[in-house]
Amino acid sequence: MTSSPIYIATVSAPTNIACIKYWGKADAHYNTPTNDSVSVTLDQADLKAVTTVAASASFTNDRLWLNGVEEDVSQNKRFRACIDGVKALAKEPERWKDLFVHVSSYNTFPTAAGLASSAAGYAALVAALAELMDAQEEYVGQLSTIARQGSGSACRSLYGGFVAWKQGTAAGNKSPWDNSMAVQIATEQHWPEIRALILVVSDAKKDTSSTAGMSTSVATSTLLQHRIKSVVPERMEAIEKAFLAKDFEAFGQLTMKDSNSFHAVCMDTYPPIFYMNDISRMVVRIVHAYNAWAGDIRAAYTFDAGPNAVLYTLEQYAVEIGALMLHYFPADSENYINRSDYANEVAAFELDSALLAATDKTGRSPTAGDVKRMYYTQSGPGPQVLDMDQANLDPTTGLNT
Ligand code: DP6
Repeated sequence: MTSSPIYIATVSAPTNIACIKYWGKADAHYNTPTNDSVSVTLDQADLKAVTTVAASASFTNDRLWLNGVEEDVSQNKRFRACIDGVKALAKEPERWKDLFVHVSSYNTFPTAAGLASSAAGYAALVAALAELMDAQEEYVGQLSTIARQGSGSACRSLYGGFVAWKQGTAAGNKSPWDNSMAVQIATEQHWPEIRALILVVSDAKKDTSSTAGMSTSVATSTLLQHRIKSVVPERMEAIEKAFLAKDFEAFGQLTMKDSNSFHAVCMDTYPPIFYMNDISRMVVRIVHAYNAWAGDIRAAYTFDAGPNAVLYTLEQYAVEIGALMLHYFPADSENYINRSDYANEVAAFELDSALLAATDKTGRSPTAGDVKRMYYTQSGPGPQVLDMDQANLDPTTGLNT
């Protein structure tokens, strides 16, 4: 039993998948990037993190439960930066300053699948704390500078649609790097036909973490320096234009090229880092064969710090590309595709024989098990405040439910 009141808030936040990648830190302390990046925010109906935060004078330390398991946060600088950052923006800072915080967060998708779970998780943490403490931004985007300190890519999950992370400057506007923040380029309503198909590729090996990988790339890759200076700035401009003009051909080509550039930098890192595997590369070949057959760019792949493929496409081609992927990477489990209506359409779709003749030339023969799961989704909004009955912490004890 506790004597002091427990204040509580629950928020859900989306994942995002970058089209122009963040790779490299300019300042590890402030967690700022060596280049701008931009991503599509995905729909929380399919993938999300749900986070409850509670504060009370009866709590004796800060505590965190991730997917139901308590983690030690006493040395966690990222967690600390988010809590302290939001407390400083509370409408009544004195009220929250000395209170400890309990946090419980879970993902509606497997964390181990490497689907930008830290982006959704830190965005949800910052949004939940901001809701609890009625945080007041001094300028638009300030909360994203806090989420950035949890995980760089998390800053982009604070907005829906198409979101850039502007590198910012070491001097900042008022304090160091206070302008290294997320900026919404377009809402999720702007280009509602955009779809994403995520292929969760089986991989037993543990990846090099993004943080460690970036640090080695910054220290050793000359190609990264070229990418930062001569590749990304032009691509950022071009992809924002393409997205605003709903030009999928340009958007798709820039997305694929930038994924390839990022993985080339990984290869140029010493010792090299391999995130894509043979299955990832097969997906690349099939997508190129598909686009060549169509005489147009209908699908665009992108890969983060792991072997999973994310394919961006348009609603009108989503069933065709899904059917093509299901043909070469057949299901080996139930609920292989997250949405049953889409799964049924894909299963019933008849692929053009000339298309299959073209994609067969990649050397791929249909084999189950190489892809564990597929998620079909679209672009969606930023964090959402949820009702009390969705809380993951018990409102009377403040403990994980
Ligand atoms: C390849 O945001 O996970 O997904 O800031 O160290 O937490 P930290 O890194 P993180 O890196 C994401 C890298 C990426 C590209 C991207 O999302 O832009």
